[in-house]
Amino acid sequence: MSKREEAKAILEKNWRDGFSIPTSKLYPFQWLWDSGFVAMGMAQYDLKRAMTEIDTMYSGQWENGMVPHILFHSENEKTYFPNFDFWNSNVNAGAPSFPKSSGITQPPVFGFILKEIMDLHPGNEELIDFAKYIFPKMVHFHRFLYHFRDPQKEGLFFIFHPWESGRDNSPIWDFAMDKIIIDKDDLPNYTRRDTSIMDPSERPTSDQYDRYVYLLELGKKYKYDGPEIAQESPFLIQDCMMNAILIQSNKALIDIGKSFGFDTLELEEWQSLSLSSFNAKFWNDEINQFVSYDCRNNRQMVHKEIGGITPLFAELATKEQAEKIANHLQSMHDRGYYLCPSFDIDSPLFDSKRYWRGPVWPQMNWMIHKGLQAYGYLTLSEIVKNDLIELVNTLGFYEYFESEKLKAANLNKGYGGNHFSWTASTFLSFTK
Ligand code: GLC
Repeated sequence: MSKREEAKAILEKNWRDGFSIPTSKLYPFQWLWDSGFVAMGMAQYDLKRAMTEIDTMYSGQWENGMVPHILFHSENEKTYFPNFDFWNSNVNAGAPSFPKSSGITQPPVFGFILKEIMDLHPGNEELIDFAKYIFPKMVHFHRFLYHFRDPQKEGLFFIFHPWESGRDNSPIWDFAMDKIIIDKDDLPNYTRRDTSIMDPSERPTSDQYDRYVYLLELGKKYKYDGPEIAQESPFLIQDCMMNAILIQSNKALIDIGKSFGFDTLELEEWQSLSLSSFNAKFWNDEINQFVSYDCRNNRQMVHKEIGGITPLFAELATKEQAEKIANHLQSMHDRGYYLCPSFDIDSPLFDSKRYWRGPVWPQMNWMIHKGLQAYGYLTLSEIVKNDLIELVNTLGFYEYFESEKLKAANLNKGYGGNHFSWTASTFLSFTK
């Protein structure tokens, strides 16, 4: 079987009557941004299924517009923590009773993904009808971010849980997370599942996990959308990657909406506000990269990390800024790393194996590849693509990969879950 056939077989195996799971055992439900990247790869050979994937994700949309980061389509599946009963999203009257969901969101990828899929199938009538039908739901998701997550009206939304960022265990969260003081008596009893399925050395520590649960409880206390979250959460971050993704998705939806003759004024107003704030808030001159902003501690989070590279993808960097980022990527390549390590290779916090603290992540390579292309760094963008292809070819369709080439040469598999959906779909996108 060719590698592309293998990728399709993985997506077939992870398909569950209407949606895809990221991988069996570890992640047995539908995750927001995974689902977007999966729809994109799948759209190459099964457009209907790709549309169903997106439609199913939006079946979990709350009345306030939020699309939750996990939809628990099967209530019998008990192997995951925190499960739907722990999230108890019913505290919010606008959360659908089915499918059950988490109470937080994830990177708003669907706008740009819809555009990618439409570019793959120009003029396809079924797809145009689908896009017309899903468009208002996608806009409503963005409305949630601007209305409920941007109290200062900066055009930049906040997250109150690291899991919303998609980069769950990145060292960039450490400072804000370490400041959270926890009285264990205030935490509900819980049992983790991830460390019994995976190697604990690749997973977050138990102190970190307590803090994740603490923030979840705080969200629940305020029905997951109350203004008290912004007032009270010790973790309140404007994430540069999520905001870049929102901007890229706004852009896509404005284009799509205009092509249908829809009113896109609201989107355009949000977009111009976001664009006017992004660069000043997130660019850091000391490390020549975009960084995220800690609203609780009023400081930029000055770390070189993979999220700070993604604004290229939404063309938010000036030419000079793009060049600095490209030089940084080139130097990691020259020093023997697969692109793109998820964290600063020179930091003591770098760990080439541990979840988001250094390894390479497939879907990140897709966005960075696109971003480099947009700025004309074609050779480097090919390296980003080919590194991922090589990792898959040599180590398999894993969730994420060793970033140090010397270490990877002694391995026979990647890290995290195997037969992973976003790895399969990114591979399909990179090899089409
Ligand atoms: C992990 C990742 C997150 C992803 C999820 C499902 O939690 O950090 O980005 O969406 O797994 O694959």
